[in-house]
Amino acid sequence: MVASCWFILSQQRTTNNQKLKNMNLTLQIWRQKGPKDKGSMVDYKVTEISEHMSFLEMMDVLNEQLINKGEEPVAFDHDCREGICGSCSMFINGEAHGPDRGVTTCQLHMRMFKDGDTITIEPFRAKAFPVIKDLVVDRSSFDRIQHAGGYISVNTSGNTQDANAIPISKHAADEAMDAATCIGCGACVASCKNASAMLFVGAKVSQYALLPQGRVEAVDRVKNMVAQMDLEGFGNCTNTGACEIECPKGISLENIARMNREYLMANVKD
Ligand code: SF4
Ligand code: FES
Repeated sequence: MVASCWFILSQQRTTNNQKLKNMNLTLQIWRQKGPKDKGSMVDYKVTEISEHMSFLEMMDVLNEQLINKGEEPVAFDHDCREGICGSCSMFINGEAHGPDRGVTTCQLHMRMFKDGDTITIEPFRAKAFPVIKDLVVDRSSFDRIQHAGGYISVNTSGNTQDANAIPISKHAADEAMDAATCIGCGACVASCKNASAMLFVGAKVSQYALLPQGRVEAVDRVKNMVAQMDLEGFGNCTNTGACEIECPKGISLENIARMNREYLMANVKD
């Protein structure tokens, strides 16, 4: 019985494997030697790409080919490769993180494309995200916004109140958690015609504003983070909503509205 089950399963696997589709693709990739280089799109061919590969695995195949030919591999950012770190910023076929919804570039599968496709791959473009090399951009502007207010001050002398002792409504906890899922990838900025960072900043302001621990420094936080956002050269929000659609973590525009309310109240209180 066990043997026959194994036989059926292995037959099934063979049939599934036969159904695997490999693709030949043309990649049009932004190549830029350094921050001062003008940069241009360069065409590459990749063959035998499995539909089960992730987009970054496909890029690995290309880079292996380039290295074997003695050419410079394409520089791109990545770390976790599982949608957590937010570093894999690529603008694929005109969309931040490519054509799928709710995924980062590292979670994008090649089954979203078909044999013979031409795929354009560019860095996230914004004045506040200057290109370092090829597809790698400098997103330290986000770090500076975080440093301006993305923290709470807690007495760690041993007298700290246990977080569980502070009652928080389920609704507020859920909304704060939703806002905290922002991974700082920058897709919202890259998708926005104004290169606005308000979805990112709105999420960071909200995750604290909704919790009692975050209320203590709420006034300074929103003012400082918004001031830093403006200083970095991000644009304004004109409510087009592209950021919400392209955000891999489904961060809601509600967070921008909350940040605006917080900002207004902070200035009224002054
Ligand atoms: S709001 Fe969404 S798109 Fe913007 S940085 Fe956060 S996770 Fe990325
Ligand atoms: S590599 Fe970390 S989110 Fe893609």
